[in-house]
Amino acid sequence: MTAAPPTIAPAGGALATDDLSAYYGTLEAVGNVSIAFRRKSVTALIGPSGCGKTTLLRCLNRLHELTFDACVSGRVLLEDCDIYEWGMDPMAIRRRIGMVFQRPNPFPTLSILDNAVACGGRRLNRRAKIEVAERALRAAALWDEVKDKLTRSPLQLSGGQQQRLCIARAVAAEPEVLLMDEPTASLDPIATAVIEELMARLAERFTIVAVTHNMQQAARVSDVTAFMLADADGTGRLIEVDDTAKLFTKPSDPRTEDYITGRFG
Ligand SMILES: Nc1ncnc2c1ncn2[C@@H]1O[C@H](COP(=O)(O)OP(=O)(O)O)[C@@H](O)[C@H]1O
Ligand SMILES: [Mg+2]
Repeated sequence: MTAAPPTIAPAGGALATDDLSAYYGTLEAVGNVSIAFRRKSVTALIGPSGCGKTTLLRCLNRLHELTFDACVSGRVLLEDCDIYEWGMDPMAIRRRIGMVFQRPNPFPTLSILDNAVACGGRRLNRRAKIEVAERALRAAALWDEVKDKLTRSPLQLSGGQQQRLCIARAVAAEPEVLLMDEPTASLDPIATAVIEELMARLAERFTIVAVTHNMQQAARVSDVTAFMLADADGTGRLIEVDDTAKLFTKPSDPRTEDYITGRFG
């Protein structure tokens, strides 16, 4: 019925979907997506508002199923293991596939220190905790800015710092994959640039899938870009996925070309 879904060479792909569809009640919000995310690279998910980017992302670590009346069909493979298989522990999956959201969401009642280790899933004494936090905060390029105020509230930090704290929290769990849903959408240009630079560094350690509606950002930060578009029924389809440089200069699908040249809609 649908054409063969586009895929990128799966070699070394830690995370992949196989014929993945996602539903809210009877609405099929994402349809038949098969994609292998390149390991230790940034893949940008782009496409117009409502095309299913967030939904797809939330399927990748089993957050989608927490929404009322939501369900999933198909498979999501992490190192060849289907994360939806019966008996898989969603909490364990979410430690291996961390997520950073559109708005920074530090735990408001925890200190900066406790936020940085909150997703580690381990009980630590204070010294071990500081060690884990320092590692995570350094990885999130935040340590120097907060090392003297670890016991303070995260709400005293700027938006950009709060977002880096959330990145530290995700990193502290030592995940294999980091999902980011428009991580700079609420930030000013300077804070955005800091996070973009950080994403490149994090990609040396993690497989990153980042939603952005900003094509310039996708072009700047990603190695691979996946373009999604909703069809006439409102079902988000994966139209094309390719090396970012190629997708933005020589897209294979005319719908991608329309979108990146601004002729869309
Ligand atoms: N909680 C929800 N309940 C019902 N429909 C939803 C919900 N969240 C999103 N949708 C619908 O799913 C589709 C895809 O939304 P979304 O994944 O948020 O798109 P994007 O992130 O690309 O803007 C849209 O039609 C949207 O209205
Ligand atoms: Mg979204």
